[in-house]
Amino acid sequence: MCGIFAVSGEKNGKAGEAVLKGLKKLEYRGYDSWGIATQEAEKIVVIKEVGKISKATPNFSSSECAIGHSRWATHGKVTSENSHPHFYKTVTLVHNGIFENYEKEKQRLIKKGHIFTSETDTEVIAHLIYEELQKNNTPKDAVRNVANIITGRFALLVLIDGNSQIIAIRRGSPLIIGRTQNTSYIASDIPAFLEYTNIVNYIDDDEMAIVEKGEVEYFDVVSGKSILKRDIEVSWKDEVLDKGDYDHFMIKEIFDQKSSLASAINHSDEEINNFIEKLQKGNGVYMVSCGTAHKASMSAEYYFSQIAKRKINVVPASEMPAFEHFINEKTVLFAVSQSGETADILEVLEQGKKKGATIISITNVESSAIAKISDNHLPLRAGKEKAVASTKATTSQMALLLLLAYADSKRLNEGRQILQNLAANVNEMINPRYEDHIKEVAKKLSDIKNIFIIGRNSLYPMALESAIKIMEVSYIHAQGFAAGEMKHGPIALIEEGTVCIVLGGDMETISNATELKSRGARIIGVAPERDKIFDDWLKVPESSCAQSIVSILPVQILAYYLAIERGLDPDMPRNLAKSVTVK
Ligand code: AGP
Ligand code: GLU
Repeated sequence: MCGIFAVSGEKNGKAGEAVLKGLKKLEYRGYDSWGIATQEAEKIVVIKEVGKISKATPNFSSSECAIGHSRWATHGKVTSENSHPHFYKTVTLVHNGIFENYEKEKQRLIKKGHIFTSETDTEVIAHLIYEELQKNNTPKDAVRNVANIITGRFALLVLIDGNSQIIAIRRGSPLIIGRTQNTSYIASDIPAFLEYTNIVNYIDDDEMAIVEKGEVEYFDVVSGKSILKRDIEVSWKDEVLDKGDYDHFMIKEIFDQKSSLASAINHSDEEINNFIEKLQKGNGVYMVSCGTAHKASMSAEYYFSQIAKRKINVVPASEMPAFEHFINEKTVLFAVSQSGETADILEVLEQGKKKGATIISITNVESSAIAKISDNHLPLRAGKEKAVASTKATTSQMALLLLLAYADSKRLNEGRQILQNLAANVNEMINPRYEDHIKEVAKKLSDIKNIFIIGRNSLYPMALESAIKIMEVSYIHAQGFAAGEMKHGPIALIEEGTVCIVLGGDMETISNATELKSRGARIIGVAPERDKIFDDWLKVPESSCAQSIVSILPVQILAYYLAIERGLDPDMPRNLAKSVTVK
């Protein structure tokens, strides 16, 4: 996580201002605190603050070169001392990632008399680079040598007193350079500098770049040898994403689902069949994903089982190491991700690639690292998802996965038909009247402490996803269960007035819901028909095998309004970030 942005060669001396602007565009990557270092005539000046950069209005002195960071804390509390840039004597730097073995190095340095002013892993890197410079290494070699000490994924930008260059280096975390004739930009993501240039170069793993104004030299970190890179012209537009008439991106993106489902399935037969061919060639498919995308993947496990009679092993990416010994050249690793840059997933794919596994993926960001490492990739085409809580990307993932299950069973046209009907139903279903009804339900629930959600079959993963949605934006404790599992323990928590959301109106689910109702639960039913046990009813269209897709929609709206009722910002919930680029 974290956003990194830097500029070298800002001819009007407004480097600080340019970095502030770029970081604001990267705020979705981390918003615990922010900081900027400007390289001024005699010295490097650092400004840092806790809180969201979108609210910041700092003053900068004139400078042509600056580096900046918006933090998602991994090591050390959210304080100004722990914010980046970190510095030690002549070395100033910003860091994305985790220096896994930092403690050992820190203790060694403390014994040598080094004094640390923060709790971060990052500060240790500044000390180590300084130590290397003291051995008469060039700045390039000092940074390279330290990179070889660090275990873990990282991206770093380094400034050294008396040297007008920015040294950029990466292993695992994203870093992209944008260039004009006289100015260079370095960022975690392209949109941060698109207003200046669409000429880019990706710094790949174990590569470094030395940047000064419009000049960029690339090197291999291991050998130190120079690398030639061709400029890439990207066709991206500098989209200014606005919320339109909506108060937040989250609700806008929920409404975007009126059209995003249709885009998700709008791939040609050839594209779908080529993708499926890769999946069918494997002997053992592991679907790897995290968080919400993992819940969409769990739904897909049901789709593939029931439609294509195929077993897909769905594993949270962070748990894959336990199954690593199953991976070989016959395995297919199938990644599902909105951002396409989640570190836990990339780690699995990189390991799998080494073992010769085939990698296929669906992501919402076509130029992402996951898309790039894949042998075959299909984009979700949901449009940029800005709110931290995933909504439209989730249903696009499920729609595309359902279509793929149909393609796997050689019934692509049938799948298309079902999904086109679904897209039309969803378009009709989400309207202001529907939204108002859910808002009223949210008003009644805003001060409760717990919500339980149950579902059966492919609605079980949606019960888990409902819990994520409610927790992450409203901070109400929520927990999802397979409908039949409640009676095996969690039912002990049900008392008069306990709120339970019931996904589905089939006989068995209603029977499980009745067991809860009999113990005092207040039932919110999400189903095509109203059942007498529902205290509130959120109607969804009858959608057969796509029921999981329509059933999560009212819960997304409910979660949004629970956050609003509780006075919270649903777009940037506490402790979270949109792209999780650390393990
Ligand atoms: C979504 O609401 C979550 N904040 C989070 O669980 C997210 O789905 C997860 O981090 C995976 O991200 P990805 O889809 O970009 O890989
Ligand atoms: N590990 C560093 C810290 O906690 C960097 C985290 C980040 O990527 O924002 O400050």
